[in-house]
This record gives sequence, structure tokens and C-alpha cells, in this order.
Amino acid sequence: MEVYNDPNIHAGAHISYNDIVPALPVIWKFVTTTLVTMSSIIPVDLLSAATNPSYFSNLVTTNASNPTNIALLSYNDTFRNNVLGSNASARQLQNLDWQAFHEMGTYNRKTNSVYVTSNYVSLDNPINITVIDLGNNYSIKSTRFKDVNEANGGTNWYPPGSDQSNGTTPPRLLFCDEGDFDAYSGLVSVDPETGDSEVVLNNFGGRNFSSVNDARQHPVTGDLWFTDADYGYFQNFRPAPTIPKQVYRFNPSTGEIAVVADGFSQCNGLEFSPDLKTLYVTDTGAQEFGQNLTRPATIYAFDILPDARTLGNRRTFAYVDNGFPDGIHADTDGNVWAGCGDGLHVWSPDGTLLGKIWVGVASNNFAFLPGKVLVFSNAQLWIVEGIKAVGREICRDFGVC
Ligand SMILES: *[C@@H]1O[C@H](CO)[C@@H](O)[C@H](O)[C@H]1NC(C)=O
Ligand SMILES: *[C@@H]1O[C@H](CO)[C@@H](O)[C@H](O)[C@H]1NC(C)=O
Ligand SMILES: *[C@@H]1O[C@H](CO)[C@@H](O)[C@H](O)[C@H]1NC(C)=O
Ligand SMILES: *[C@@H]1O[C@H](CO)[C@@H](O)[C@H](O)[C@H]1NC(C)=O
Ligand SMILES: *[C@@H]1O[C@H](CO)[C@@H](O)[C@H](O)[C@H]1NC(C)=O
Ligand SMILES: *[C@@H]1O[C@H](CO)[C@@H](O)[C@H](O)[C@H]1NC(C)=O
Ligand SMILES: *[C@@H]1O[C@H](CO)[C@@H](O)[C@H](O)[C@H]1NC(C)=O
Ligand SMILES: *[C@@H]1O[C@H](CO)[C@@H](O)[C@H](O)[C@H]1NC(C)=O
Repeated sequence: MEVYNDPNIHAGAHISYNDIVPALPVIWKFVTTTLVTMSSIIPVDLLSAATNPSYFSNLVTTNASNPTNIALLSYNDTFRNNVLGSNASARQLQNLDWQAFHEMGTYNRKTNSVYVTSNYVSLDNPINITVIDLGNNYSIKSTRFKDVNEANGGTNWYPPGSDQSNGTTPPRLLFCDEGDFDAYSGLVSVDPETGDSEVVLNNFGGRNFSSVNDARQHPVTGDLWFTDADYGYFQNFRPAPTIPKQVYRFNPSTGEIAVVADGFSQCNGLEFSPDLKTLYVTDTGAQEFGQNLTRPATIYAFDILPDARTLGNRRTFAYVDNGFPDGIHADTDGNVWAGCGDGLHVWSPDGTLLGKIWVGVASNNFAFLPGKVLVFSNAQLWIVEGIKAVGREICRDFGVC
């Protein structure tokens, strides 16, 4: 694999790295939790809502500066019967005074931990990687990895030659690095156990990406599909963009790279359907330098053509009623989950809104665990346990099929 990898560019004037920067202090901060049980699944009366614009704001409330309420809102019986099931319960795990839980949410089996990126603060306080230890009651610590400058989304990464099919090959973490004023934006792979890192991609035919945002690996072809948006520029840590907002497909065996979709305001999260026939792409154009609710907060669906290389039949899958859809994952029934302005929203494959895991503040991403889902809302970490839904990548990532 031929990759452009100039170590000087990744030296990062404002950060000094060892192999793995020694972990920042472990935080053992737990809060009193609110337990929501089956009886707390709140049915939404859509016909009442249809003629009452205040219906939803009267249904559930939280204190946005200290959110502690989590609610399971059922818009359709499928949510209660098939998605959550009768045994689901929800609670808050962490409530911090900084934003440790922003994006990514990728499980690594060697460390039995979930890797989450924190929210950006400043070039002097760059994005952390928050490590959630599943073997120690969801305790967290912060770390940083060499070559990873300002990470956002990510996924598990099986390098060419490794086998994704049976879960025996431990994958590497793949970070979408938004870059900064010195560092290229691109894809960086890390072995979180050893701290070994490798830049997988950092340019498009010599052109710079703007801020690579999120990525998925096609389970059959091994290609990396990823989005590039302008958030590093909007957050003042990247130069003005010099390339459109596009979805790319990169073949890590040959180095071939191609644009597969464009025409977005800000393409952001992306996800395959479990049958690999559909690609979902979120557009978070409603949030750029500031919020502008006349721009997209929309999930587009595309047909993945039989060549598994190109897309067709772009269509609007869903427009969200709160905030914008950011991180997106499918479950094995083909339901589509996205982090939105008030928590997670879940749609059936035909685009019917089935329900919400409501936390009253923005969730940018989340992570399926076997029988569970971790919900990130920046300063808070939440969990819904005992769910029926199975994340699309649970079998591969956890070896629990
Ligand atoms: C909301 O939370 C903040 C921060 O904990 C607190 O200062 C404030 O009093 C709360 N507001 C209400 C109405 O409870
Ligand atoms: C519930 O969702 C299904 C799609 O999964 C849809 O066919 C059905 O019409 C919905 N029911 C209601 C009452 O909206
Ligand atoms: C329900 O949840 C409890 C506690 O998490 C668990 O012990 C039990 O096995 C679950 N029952 C079903 C039917 O999933
Ligand atoms: C795990 O953390 C929860 C709070 O999230 C706490 O209530 C519980 O006591 C902890 N359990 C153990 C075994 O430490
Ligand atoms: C990184 O983590 C430390 C605590 O471990 C926190 O004080 C700091 O603000 C974090 N920075 C970011 C950008 O999340
Ligand atoms: C799983 O994949 C690994 C790595 O390719 C291979 O060595 C092993 O034989 C496979 N195991 C099974 C049960 O297919
Ligand atoms: C591309 O990014 C590199 C690394 O940040 C930078 O040195 C270079 O000037 C950029 N090129 C253009 C044309 O913006
Ligand atoms: C919001 O976005 C629309 C569409 O891009 C634009 O026409 C309008 O001027 C924007 N409004 C504000 C207040 O920036």
C-alpha cells in the first residue's frame, strides 16, 4: 500500500507524543442514576401531536445544563415490540464537566473497551480519546495516540489480507482525523493495545481533504467509505476548504480512490444497511459556523449498485424534527439509528420513525454492545440495557452472533 506519510507534518507543534501519551488521570466519576423501566416507555400519540405544536415539549423535559432524564419514546409499536423489547431499561453512567463523549464509539476486543472521541476545545487542548472500559463498570480514562491530531468519527479496520468474516482477526481502530493547521486530514489506524499507528490515507490525488468526518469498511470488499465535511474550518482549526463535501470510496489494497456521492450541504455520518444494498449518509448542513434550520438535517439513502463500488437512486430517507442527524448505525433488522438534537432516533427500513431514546440534549453518536446501546451526549454517557436490537457490526466486532 502506497501512502503519503511525512512524519514531519504530523509532529504537531502543539502536542508532544510518546508512543502513547501517558493516559490522562483516570476519572472515576459516577452519578446517581435515573432508572427507566419498561413501564416508562412513553407512547407518543401522533394524532394529538399533529394539531398541538407544544405536544412534545410537554411530554418530556430536562435541565439542559444538567441533563439527568432519559426516556424511551415509542412512536410506533414496533419500537416497543421489536426494537427495545419488554425488558429494556435505561440509565445515566457518567455526567462530567467536560465533553468526553462526542463521536466514534468503536469497540476493541483486545482491550475490551469502547473508544470515543471528545469534543474539540482548542489547539492547546486537542481532542482526547475517551476509553470506556467494559470490564470495569464503564469507567473511563482519556488518552491520545500518535499521528491522531483531531479525531472525529471512526470504525474498526481490517487491513488488506485480514479476515473480517469470523471475528478471529483483531481489527485496528480507524480514526477520521480532521487534521489542523499543520496536519493533513485523513484516516489513521491505531492498535490501541500497543499504540502503534499508521496513516492510511491523507489526500485525494495530491489535494487536501477538508475534515474527514466518519468512515465504514465494506464487510465484503474491504473498501473504506468515508465522508469529508468542513467542521474543522467551522471550528477554527482548519484552513478554508479547497474541495467539495463528498463521500469517497478508498480501496486500501490498491490505493484507488473515487468520489461516490456529492451535492451535500455537509455530509457527515454514513452507514451500510445489513444487506449491503443501501448506503445512508447524514447531512448536518443545519449546523455550520452557527445553526441555520433552513438547511438540511437529513438522512439520504442510496442504492449500492451490484458492483459494490458505485451508488444510484439518491433519495430522502428522513428529515429530523430536532437538531440534525450525525452518527448513524443500522441494526440487523435494517432499522436505522441516528444521534440527533434530543437523543437517538430510530427508523424502520422504510423510513417510518419508530421511536426515540430521548435525553433532551444533542447526541452526536452512540455504540451498540451486545443487548445494549451506549448513548453519547458530550458531557454525559448513558446506557440502554436489555434491548432486542442487535447492531449491524456486533457479530464481527464482539464475536457474539
Ligand atoms: C439546572 O442545572 C444547573 C446546573 O446543575 C443548576 O444550576 C440549575 O439550578 C438547574 N435548573 C433547574 C431549574 O433545576
Ligand atoms: C409502524 O411502522 C411500520 C413500518 O415499520 C408501518 O408499516 C406502520 O404503518 C406503522 N404503524 C403506524 C400506526 O404508524
Ligand atoms: C431482562 O433483564 C435482566 C436484567 O438485565 C436479565 O437478567 C434478564 O435475563 C432479562 N430477560 C430477558 C427475557 O431478556
Ligand atoms: C458501577 O457504576 C454504577 C454507577 O454508574 C454504580 O451505581 C455501581 O455501584 C457501580 N458498580 C460497581 C460494582 O462498582
Ligand atoms: C481531555 O481530557 C481531560 C481530562 O482527562 C480534560 O480535562 C480535557 O478538557 C479534555 N480535552 C478535550 C478536548 O476533551
Ligand atoms: C478465521 O480467520 C482466521 C484469519 O483469517 C483463520 O486463520 C481461521 O482459520 C478462521 N477460522 C474459522 C473458524 O474460519
Ligand atoms: C495541504 O495540507 C498541508 C498540511 O496541512 C499543507 O501544508 C498544505 O499547504 C495544504 N495544501 C493546500 C493546497 O492547501
Ligand atoms: C440560512 O441558510 C439559507 C440557505 O443556505 C440562506 O439563504 C440564509 O441566508 C441563511 N440564513 C441566515 C440567517 O444565515
